[in-house]
Amino acid sequence: MKLTRLIAAAAALAGMVACAVGLPPVTALDAQTAGVPLVALQRGRDVYVAKCGGCHKLYPPADYDDAAWDAQVHGMRKKARLTDGDIAAILTYLAAMNGDPSFELALDRASASGPTEGHGVVTQ
Ligand code: HEC
Repeated sequence: MKLTRLIAAAAALAGMVACAVGLPPVTALDAQTAGVPLVALQRGRDVYVAKCGGCHKLYPPADYDDAAWDAQVHGMRKKARLTDGDIAAILTYLAAMNGDPSFELALDRASASGPTEGHGVVTQ
């Protein structure tokens, strides 16, 4: 009986957290589809939640395509006090999760100083 109540409470809490954040968790499949490490997606989501949810709701990744997210995140740079690393992490997450296949655009621009090779089109 006690255990059942505990499980019910845990489930309710998990539901509340999921609701408050309003963003689905990242999965290994997301990482595979986007071609980025799962840890990078998780970190991007963490930074997004930490830096972008304070003033307004967290906009779902699907609200914008890669280019629009790139512009929006750069536009929020001062408000959210973002470092270059924050921007790269957030854009990696948003571009991977928004269903826009032009993922490479945002990633390349976010990591302008990083290597530009390595996330080309998979040929096989
Ligand atoms: C200090 C408060 C603050 C923080 C932090 C903040 N925003 Fe904003 N955001 C605003 C305000 C105010 C507006 C509306 C006015 C404007 O566009 O400047 C806005 C507008 C937006 C819009 C446009 C919404 C629309 O309907 O046009 C998006 C998208 C957005 N923010 C994303 C983000 C992201 C992504 C982050 C994190 C990197 C972030 N915001 C962090 C205050 C904030």
